[in-house]
Amino acid sequence: MKIVPGLPSFVTGASSGIGRAIALELGARRARVALVSRRADALERVADEVREAGGEPLVIPADVTDEAAIRGAVERAAASFGSLRLVIPNAGIGRYGLSWEHAPSEIESLIRINLLGVIFTVRAVLPHLLDAAPAHIAAVTSSAGLIPHVRGSAYCASKAGVNQYLAAVRLEVLDRGVGVSWICPGAVDTPFFEGANLDPDTDLPLLARLFVRRLQPEGVAHAVIRAVEHNRREVVVPAMMRFFAWTRRMTPALADWINRKLP
Ligand SMILES: NC(=O)c1ccc[n+]([C@@H]2O[C@H](COP(=O)([O-])OP(=O)(O)OC[C@H]3O[C@@H](n4cnc5c(N)ncnc54)[C@H](OP(=O)(O)O)[C@@H]3O)[C@@H](O)[C@H]2O)c1
Repeated sequence: MKIVPGLPSFVTGASSGIGRAIALELGARRARVALVSRRADALERVADEVREAGGEPLVIPADVTDEAAIRGAVERAAASFGSLRLVIPNAGIGRYGLSWEHAPSEIESLIRINLLGVIFTVRAVLPHLLDAAPAHIAAVTSSAGLIPHVRGSAYCASKAGVNQYLAAVRLEVLDRGVGVSWICPGAVDTPFFEGANLDPDTDLPLLARLFVRRLQPEGVAHAVIRAVEHNRREVVVPAMMRFFAWTRRMTPALADWINRKLP
């Protein structure tokens, strides 16, 4: 689907990092962008930047784990824009720890935000996208949804859950004009790791630290836009992470062995 001027779009987690970069990229293409996350003040700052870039922002503070709130946000954006044609479920957090040490409260909020938050968003937007097709959903998930790593069990589960949820949704809606993509980046330079209990410079698997370059949020935003424009299914960035994901799919036992020996 082409990103045309005025395209009515909806980005969750738009107040920071990758979501902000996607909103600015859509702004530069003169899209109308609903900016959704919990912090209204941070969203207002991004809205100013989107306006400066040439887009038309609409700030809607909402928590993706609150089903009624996210449904309300979707209805407000659709009413204000007249329709919705592009949705980017991106809101997410990282919390890490060995599986038996990880606090249940942390695991619960991780799953609620990263998995249920996407499901609530997609469920709420689909009637609008089906009405306005051609339309597209492009979620930001993670390479961790494809390649497991030590101390990431709950995070990996949340992202693998989203990938599989969207793969099933795609089967339902593709022939009705709604594309579905999931973009799986490796580590990205954003505030994501603050308070996550994982330092990407020391705690990620050795091969990832040695061979996979750290992405900038703008690079992920470009990958998201390309996925929408070319109706891609699963996109892994950067290229070396794509190679690791392919290797794991082909030879999972070998990949696990390497992962255990070189943590
Ligand atoms: N950075 C990485 O290395 C990396 C790698 C792979 C994938 N990802 C994924 O990329 C996505 C964006 O992360 P990022 O790196 O841009 O991190 P970030 O800068 O910390 O941004 C996270 C965004 O999610 C929003 N958010 C968190 N909880 C929310 C909730 N309950 N309701 C609504 N919004 C919520 C935050 O906004 P508020 O605080 O205003 O609510 C913020 O806008 C996440 O899904 C993450 O898992 C990140």
